[in-house]
Amino acid sequence: MDEKLLTKICAIEGQISSDEIQFLHGMAQRVSPGGVAVEVGSFRGRSAAAIASGLAKDCHLVCIDPWTLKTENGRGYFTPETLLAFQENTSPWQSVITQAVAFPNQVAAWFGRKVDLFFSDSLKSKVGVKMVWESWIPHFKTGTTIVTHDYDPDTSGRWHYPAVVAMVENVLKPMTLRHKRVMLTWSGVVK
Ligand SMILES: C[S@@+](CC[C@H](N)C(=O)[O-])C[C@H]1O[C@@H](n2cnc3c(N)ncnc32)[C@H](O)[C@@H]1O
Repeated sequence: MDEKLLTKICAIEGQISSDEIQFLHGMAQRVSPGGVAVEVGSFRGRSAAAIASGLAKDCHLVCIDPWTLKTENGRGYFTPETLLAFQENTSPWQSVITQAVAFPNQVAAWFGRKVDLFFSDSLKSKVGVKMVWESWIPHFKTGTTIVTHDYDPDTSGRWHYPAVVAMVENVLKPMTLRHKRVMLTWSGVVK
């Protein structure tokens, strides 16, 4: 990933590190032409930009986030300003991005394509993590790269989400090969 692009994406307010941006970008570069990527939890577009900028021009990235469908607002996630910031920040890649203002299980219920790259950076509760993965696993195929943020099995850090760790250990690891970790990000490739 060139330095100028990395600087541009790092300037988008967000919650993944520069190493994770480069990791997601590299994963997206491996998606075959015409392929489909899905992101759950998009906020202001940092991870979406990392993925979209790595995809071939005829690929699609569906970015799912409730944005203004929710009202409680601890971290500024659910404001019209955040929704618009996503559009503005990802505008260089708008030809590959579909912004879905929705809940992830709603989109999964009718989604008609197998997914090549799936990235989740959204709910951390046991119920939420289960909902995201159980609704999207049926859309995976052999070779789908699955990626989750906020995996930290060491329990040492500030960011520890036991439900994400349990999902990776109990469900995602057994169904995948070629496991990788970069900072808080975990990935595997579906068997
Ligand atoms: C940690 S932020 C995502 C950060 C983003 N990936 C980035 O690169 O900066 C978590 C996101 O999850 C979204 N979210 C909240 N409730 C959700 C739900 N029920 N389903 C999916 N996403 C949800 C929030 O709106 C927020 O944008």
